[in-house]
Amino acid sequence: MNQDYIKPDNWSIIEEGFDVESVKSSESLFSIGNGAMGQRANFEENYTGETFQGSYIAGIYYPDKTKVGWWKNGYPEYFAKVLNAPNWIGIDVEINGENFNLNACTAVNNFRRELNMKEGWYNRSFEATLKNGTEIAVNVRRFLSLNLDEVGVINYEVTPLNKDAKIIYKPYIDAGVTNEDANWEEKFWEPLDVKHNKNEAFVTARTFKTHFIATTFMQNSIFLNGKDLNLTTENVESSKDKVQFIYAISVAKGEKSSIRKIGGYTVSLNHENTQLAASNVIKSALTKGYDLLLQEQIDAWAKIWEMSDITIDGDVKAQQGIRFNIFQLNQTYLGKDSRLNIGPKGFTGEKYGGSTYWDTEAYCIPFYMATKDQQVARNLLTYRFNQLDKAIENAQNNLGFKKGGGAALYPMVTMNGEECHNEWEITHEEIHRNGAIAFAIFNYYRFTGDYSYIPEKGLEVLIGIARFWHQRASFSKNKNQYVILGVTGPNEYENNVNNNFYTNYIAKWCLDYTYEQIQKVSLEYPSDHKRIMEKVNLSDAELQDWKKVSNGMYFPKSEELGIYLQQDGFLDKDLVPVKDLDRSQRPINQKWSWDRVLRSPYIKQADVLQCFYFFEEHFSKEELNRNFEFYESFTVHESSLSPCVHSIQAAVLDKMDMAYTFYLRTSRLDLDDYNKEVEEGCHITSMAGTWMSIVEGFGGMRVKNDALHFSPKIPKEWEGYSFKINFRNQILKVSINHNDTQFSLEGSKELTVFVNGTPILVEPNSLVTV
Ligand code: BGC
Repeated sequence: MNQDYIKPDNWSIIEEGFDVESVKSSESLFSIGNGAMGQRANFEENYTGETFQGSYIAGIYYPDKTKVGWWKNGYPEYFAKVLNAPNWIGIDVEINGENFNLNACTAVNNFRRELNMKEGWYNRSFEATLKNGTEIAVNVRRFLSLNLDEVGVINYEVTPLNKDAKIIYKPYIDAGVTNEDANWEEKFWEPLDVKHNKNEAFVTARTFKTHFIATTFMQNSIFLNGKDLNLTTENVESSKDKVQFIYAISVAKGEKSSIRKIGGYTVSLNHENTQLAASNVIKSALTKGYDLLLQEQIDAWAKIWEMSDITIDGDVKAQQGIRFNIFQLNQTYLGKDSRLNIGPKGFTGEKYGGSTYWDTEAYCIPFYMATKDQQVARNLLTYRFNQLDKAIENAQNNLGFKKGGGAALYPMVTMNGEECHNEWEITHEEIHRNGAIAFAIFNYYRFTGDYSYIPEKGLEVLIGIARFWHQRASFSKNKNQYVILGVTGPNEYENNVNNNFYTNYIAKWCLDYTYEQIQKVSLEYPSDHKRIMEKVNLSDAELQDWKKVSNGMYFPKSEELGIYLQQDGFLDKDLVPVKDLDRSQRPINQKWSWDRVLRSPYIKQADVLQCFYFFEEHFSKEELNRNFEFYESFTVHESSLSPCVHSIQAAVLDKMDMAYTFYLRTSRLDLDDYNKEVEEGCHITSMAGTWMSIVEGFGGMRVKNDALHFSPKIPKEWEGYSFKINFRNQILKVSINHNDTQFSLEGSKELTVFVNGTPILVEPNSLVTV
């Protein structure tokens, strides 16, 4: 059974009733973020039950020294990890002499969490009876400001219900935190300085090794029945990494007391003097005040939704699912800073170290391109451009590619451009990631029409990547063709295979595409061409060699079945389809030994089908169908990235029931906890895949020859759905129901879109029904 405790609602994620068993899952699901920082939905007050504490600051990481049993040459020295950042949310609460702790109360009633996605805040309310008999009602609201993105705000209200109470609020900030995932159980933060002044406090700490400095700050005000009591702390408890304030008040039965805490981080990535920056930021927040900060939050989220909302009529769970995905993507990355990227768990957990994977290019970029200004996607591309030198070192140092110089292998996992992954079959072999980085450059130009990125930055990245493929392919005398040996494809349930179809295909494509771009830049941007060629030192002979490899690339296939083979020898496996596999054996990665997984035919995630997703127009529908039928039957979807690609392909092939089933699986993966692991954090990067399943799957959106094409379909379970696309600075709204498709355009220029191949003229500010 999948978890089903989240209440269906169009705009909110809601939990009702207190269950210690679901605290960690809810901490993930109710996470909040603002692109610059984020945190799990941990309780502010002390809690002695099972919890996974997590606060994260974008771009701040720690290089945790690699720990492996058998060291292989070429392993990176460390894994850069997102750090559990100092705690700024903590508020211990003492009521009539007892420390309030939900795990120790004799009763908890009407417990309710709400994550309001429309307005961008998280609320928790309940009534509790303490051991000392005091009954209290608690209501806590928390948000991370989008406008002042170093600031978070908490409004924590306590009303004694059955007697007068002496309430002591003890807000604190604390840098004495650790990571759950730490290889050597080391501390990641070194405390530097602790300061406090009236109701403000600052704890400054530095990460070991990477030396990022963060000042964690707080400012507190105490209210009674909505009136600021202007209290200053009675007492301060302070140590080398923690400051705690004490505010005691007497509250009569039925009166509402509250503490408002402003807190957050200022970091050396953005400021010379983080402590000074923290005082300034507190001033700005206080000048605005709680109500205005909240109103600004609501307005900022309204703006985001205005552009990125997808509506679904007639299916609340599907509606809630897609909004949850869009909300989390926006909480994780807003594209303001090209030093930042999108970790697979965003700000909701430590898994995957918060680092950058090929997920960004293969899955996330389409979402950001279509729902934000094009600069956002450009920043994501620039992130890789800025790491090109490291990718060149990575190819040379780790893999010994010196010949042509300048060959670039982007890391599988990275924070600053250096490889962090340390499993040889992935670090050294899952090299297809390089292809996705090149594909994203092509995709960006295809969608935005902004070619300038390629002569400015993209071409150097493409050349590095093409050089890598040129050298990584080898000539097989036996086949009289070029082969790529010893790789891991996207399906990580196969390692060290020869001629993974997807890898060979994207390698060839990279060589051809880069070749074409060099020609184009030479004709249209001669001065950029000159600059780049002088820098990369690329000879004609090398280019001709690329052609040789590309033209001679080998692709494994079965003529008999009319399919491409995922890799050499795939058909030798015992080809029992997933439907005949006993349910008790799944997920196979938890039930089987690794060798058994490897020799089985089961596929973790789209692999050959990933190729068809990227290069659909290179293949006939019959080919797509044959391959889909074959590979879908062996796919176990044990990666969150899998169902979305299958959903899109199923929609292309008019298998709408299947497309819908996969859609539900991707959109409610975390809310329904399909993989029984949501307590570790949410699957942020695959959420962009959910968006693709609707827009590219059901809506059938493609960009061909500078124009938008649609082939609208609708699941029978829905009455209608709509989405918006920022296409070249004009906003196109597409609404689809069972009878027609409507287009409306916010912009100034008419736009021709194609619906199932027929051109349709959409004039600005008018509605066209097809
Ligand atoms: C997937 C990879 C992905 C990584 C991070 C793995 O389970 O197989 O394709 O990059 O998760 O999301």
